[in-house]
This record gives sequence, C-alpha cells and structure tokens, in this order.
Amino acid sequence: MFEKLFMTPQDPLLKLINEFNTDKRTDKIDLGVGVYRNQKGVTPVMNAVKSAESQLIKNQDSKSYLGLAGDMEYLDLMGHLVFGGIRPKKSRFAYLQTPGGSAALRLAGDIIKRSTPYTRVWVGLPCWTNHIPIFSAAGLKIETFNYYDRENGHVDFESVMMATTNAQAGDVILLQACGHNPTGVDLNLEQWKCIAQQCVERGLIPFFDLAYHGLADGLETDLSGLNIVMDIVPEALAAVSCSKNFGLYRERTGALYVMTPSSKKAEVSLTNLFELARTSYSMPPDHGAAIVRLILRDAELRQDWEAELAEMRNQIQLTRMQLAQGTGKHNLSFIKDGKGMFTMLPITAEQIARLRKDHAIYMAANGRINLAGLPQSKFDKFISALDAVLA
Ligand SMILES: Cc1ncc(COP(=O)(O)O)c(C=O)c1O
Repeated sequence: MFEKLFMTPQDPLLKLINEFNTDKRTDKIDLGVGVYRNQKGVTPVMNAVKSAESQLIKNQDSKSYLGLAGDMEYLDLMGHLVFGGIRPKKSRFAYLQTPGGSAALRLAGDIIKRSTPYTRVWVGLPCWTNHIPIFSAAGLKIETFNYYDRENGHVDFESVMMATTNAQAGDVILLQACGHNPTGVDLNLEQWKCIAQQCVERGLIPFFDLAYHGLADGLETDLSGLNIVMDIVPEALAAVSCSKNFGLYRERTGALYVMTPSSKKAEVSLTNLFELARTSYSMPPDHGAAIVRLILRDAELRQDWEAELAEMRNQIQLTRMQLAQGTGKHNLSFIKDGKGMFTMLPITAEQIARLRKDHAIYMAANGRINLAGLPQSKFDKFISALDAVLA
C-alpha cells in the first residue's frame, strides 16, 4: 500500500525554521516564523494564561468528554467578544470549538462543500500559505485575485472589487478581519463598506479568518470590518483562532461560527458540523479553551490579558514605525500604514538569499517579515544588512 506514496514537498516555512535552527551564527535573526516574540526572543506564556492554568490544575476534577461542541461557556464568551455588536442574531449562529483556527477553516470548507458542492471560494493573493491547501483538501474550487499592490504597499482594491463582481451568487469570499497575513495591509472602513454592499447585492458569502484579533489596532477596532459586513449580510462564516492573541499556539484553541438566515438553518447546520467533526478529530482538545474561558469570565484575569496583549501590540507597532523610517538609502514609509505582526519588504529572492547567507537573517521567500521577530537589540544590524542588500 505505502509503495504508492511519493514524498510531498516540505512546507517552505518549516524548511526555513530547520535552516535557522541549524545555523551556528550567534547573531542570527529569525523573521520567518509567524509567532509573537518578546524582546528576549521568547514566545511567552501570557501571565493570565499561567494564572488560569494553575486554577485549572487546582479545580478541574474530571477529564471526561465534553461533547462535540466543546466548551460551551468558552464559545459563548468568545462569541460575545467577537460578535458582541450583533448579539440579537445569536439564534441564527451555529458554532463549535475547534482545534485551532486551522480546523475551523477546514470544517468551514467541509460544510460549504457538503451544502453547495460547486461553490467557489475567492482567495486574495498573497494569502496565508495554508489557505489554499485547506480549501483544496475540502474539495472546493478556488478562485484567486490580487489583494496586494506590491508596488505601492497597499490593498489592490480595484482587484478586490473586480473579484466581487466576477463572483457568482452563493460564492464565498475569504476575508482576513485584521492584521493580514502575509502583507500586514488591511482594508479600510470605506473598503469594508463597499465589500459589505457587494456581498448583499451579489449574494456573496463572506468568510472571515480571525487569527490576529487584538494584534492590529486593538480588540474593538480590529472587528470594525467584520461588524460592518456581518451587520448587513444574511449569511457568513468566521474562523477564530486563539493561537496568537492568547499565545496558545500548541494548545490548538479555536472556534467556527456560522451565521445562517434563520434559527432553523442554524440548527441544521450545527448537526452537519457535528457530523463532520465527529468523522475527523471528533472532539476538540479542552485545555486551551478552558484557559480562555477562565480569562474571559474573570474581570481581573481579563484585564491582565488585555494589558499584556496591548504590550505585545505596542511592541510590534514600535518596530513597525522604526522600520518605516527606512534604511537611509531606501524609503520604507509605506510600512507605517500596515497593521499587525507582518509586513512585506520590497525585496527580491536573490536579496533574501543574500540576507540569509551574508547576514544570518531569515525571512519567508515572498519577503514577509514578522515584526515581532525583530528585537530592539538587533534592529541596527537588520537595518544595515537591509541597506547593504537592497538595490
Ligand atoms: C491567517 C491565518 N489564519 C489561520 C491561522 C491558523 O492558526 P492556528 O491553526 O494555529 O490557530 C494562521 C496561523 O498562522 C494564520 O496566519
């Protein structure tokens, strides 16, 4: 049986991590991996997470199954955090806890495929490296459009609007709610309004990927676009991840929320989501969701979490603003308009290779850098290396 298998290509980012780890140079800089790092280069366990964890260890008296939906209180609290502004529609939502945002994206893909097999998913490029593989694995047809105007460092909104015009009624459009990965360039409020209008007029279904909530402008502002759209569309999907904003990466904590036109449709959708989950991972892991539940329901822990999240955001923003000042020879001012952890450098593959070879600086092949991977102590080294390699 297994003779028929061929080697699959290694994920380029995982390959980059391996190369970085085996690089013996002590002054190396990793701007490739998409995780938050503090000034010491550590991806910390957040204080509120530590406190919630010790409460859990002390008080949890069973590890018995929780059921297909996962932790209901976590789902309600997360639902309130993300969809607080549209609470009256709650009965029209079907939702379940998922192993990270990735499983939420996949489950969403599965239910789209099951319900309307010929639906196309419109994905703006460049996208997160796993978006297209996840939807392809769900058997969906994918259409792409240009999201990013690389020349000017902002959203290629003409292309976005063109895509919404070319899409057919019932097609899904994937939208990153904030802190776009990999470009760091988000839609502005006017653009969100246009998209919302297009979705309503053309019968398109918005599908939000919310993986960086709180890391762009703040917990409330980061939801502005999502709220504008969800306020007026009858149907939508949202994949939520707690990997970055709670620092729970390996605990695989996420959720999928599906907004349907009626409570009856929500009920039917939920039975389908349960069945899809049951036949793959069955039930989601509990630990991360239990931590998030404890944080969100306790005023003190929540305050602590929000304060630490703000610190993370501010650190990233500070680095963004410093980098936007340019290298002396090169103007990088477009970077200041970006949001969240990422920005894309105007850099060629050959220059990226030189940064790695000559300066031990690692970044993704498309020029995406993780601003949280650049501590103040290494900032000057990075700027002079960039100055040296950029044409
Ligand atoms: C845009 C985007 N969506 C979703 C995810 C999924 O995150 P996770 O499955 O770790 O929760 C990521 C992770 O990097 C991401 O960047």
